[in-house]
Amino acid sequence: MAQTVIIEEAGGPDALRLVDRPVGDPGPGEVRIAQRACGLNFIDVYQRMGMYPLTLPHALGMEAAGVIEAVGAGVTHLKVGDRAAYAAAPPGAYAEARVMPAAQVCPLPEDISFDEAAAMMLKGLTVQYLFHRTTPLGPGDTVLFHAAAGGVGLIACQWARSEGVTLIGTAGTDEKCQLAVEHGASHCINYRRDDFAARVKELTGGAGVDVVMDAVGADTFEGSLDSLKPLGMMISFGNASGAVPPFSVGLLGQKGSLKITRPTLFTHIADHDTCQAMARQLFGKVSNGDVKIRIDQRFALADVAAAHEALEARQTTGSTILTL
Ligand SMILES: NC(=O)c1ccc[n+]([C@@H]2O[C@H](COP(=O)([O-])OP(=O)(O)OC[C@H]3O[C@@H](n4cnc5c(N)ncnc54)[C@H](OP(=O)(O)O)[C@@H]3O)[C@@H](O)[C@H]2O)c1
Repeated sequence: MAQTVIIEEAGGPDALRLVDRPVGDPGPGEVRIAQRACGLNFIDVYQRMGMYPLTLPHALGMEAAGVIEAVGAGVTHLKVGDRAAYAAAPPGAYAEARVMPAAQVCPLPEDISFDEAAAMMLKGLTVQYLFHRTTPLGPGDTVLFHAAAGGVGLIACQWARSEGVTLIGTAGTDEKCQLAVEHGASHCINYRRDDFAARVKELTGGAGVDVVMDAVGADTFEGSLDSLKPLGMMISFGNASGAVPPFSVGLLGQKGSLKITRPTLFTHIADHDTCQAMARQLFGKVSNGDVKIRIDQRFALADVAAAHEALEARQTTGSTILTL
């Protein structure tokens, strides 16, 4: 049996229920993991509230780290006793133990703690694909990154610095802006006070940025397009403030022949070998000190509702984990 967080119906944080349920044995291609910590991500909020619908009842959580307890037939990259971590579907990571498909479960190097791994797999693999698999990006390029003091954000700030990419951040308070700059952002704009598109133009000598990485969504979408250079790339990868409203594709022409993509991590990690290679690059950045994983909030599994409330109320910075 394992304590597991489920929802029986979509709703607010009070929809989260902690239940005891059997874990079972892994089938072919699966592993059972005794989990040591799990990570909190905004996708968990979208799933809980029904914005990304699940077949109910369903367990929640997309990211965790622990020890492999049992291995199903055909699994060759993991064995019993291995340390491991993942960011993967199906939801169910908010649990003391679980069975899941092995393909996206990654062997975890000894020098990375379970807490760090639980705090970084989903966010760090996302930053990996944003910087290396979405659009050509390299030294000298400039990126605008919204919510730069958040979980994905603080990893992105450090990743950009390590790749020679200039990252202009935005965040909701001056304190958060300071944090983003301390982690590698060249500038950070308080977008609750200042017109960020106008500030981006000032900071880039009127040119605009090469790429925008926008997971705030509804509130920032138009301003993000206005922050781009002609031919620039808009990466819309989330909806923390609400879904991006429908728009005319002609807008992209009017604003300078812009490009737009709407990626998800789960497309990028669908292939086993690709997922494992992405994870190795992420682990390398953490092991060599380029990226430090900052865990600013820890909640017990039983306090998962308070963790969701804090994330939705913009009270968190860096990563949040649920301790087991
Ligand atoms: N597509 C993908 O593959 C993918 C993968 C991972 C994450 N994401 C997206 O990336 C974003 C960041 O994820 P995360 O887990 O690291 O969360 P997070 O950035 O730690 O938290 C979300 C942040 O969004 C900002 N925000 C702006 N308007 C908001 C609003 N109305 N309500 C709540 N927050 C608001 C807040 O920062 P300020 O106070 O500074 O504004 C808040 O702290 C999310 O949108 C998530 O869905 C997408």
